[in-house]
Amino acid sequence: MPTGIHHIGVAVADLDESIRHYRNALGAQLVHRAVSDSEGLEAALLRIGTDEIELMSALRDDSPVGKFMAKRGPGLHHVAYGVKDIDLALAEARAAGLELIDAKPRIGLNGRRIAFVHPKSMGGVLTELVEA
Ligand code: CO
Repeated sequence: MPTGIHHIGVAVADLDESIRHYRNALGAQLVHRAVSDSEGLEAALLRIGTDEIELMSALRDDSPVGKFMAKRGPGLHHVAYGVKDIDLALAEARAAGLELIDAKPRIGLNGRRIAFVHPKSMGGVLTELVEA
């Protein structure tokens, strides 16, 4: 079971501008920034107090984030829950009847093992499990 909310993912149109905005408006600190060619996105991890926000922008219109932006525009993209053991968390999610997007963990942009749960299993919210 999750130990808490690990971060909130937000889809944005302009990553540089959004980082500046979160810095100015909320005092957020940039802790990590990375590009994933395979996912077609660039993401920035920002720290606000003890919590994290992940800003993501699409590198291509046909990427998952690009399609999300085309359909829904910028905004809340996913909620990530921290888990101690991702393999156990996936087994528990499966046992609870959740529809998994990732049957097996993969490596996220922060180097941690992650897996996504389908939004239709979680009240319409794309849900990430992250081993932390
Ligand atoms: Co995330």
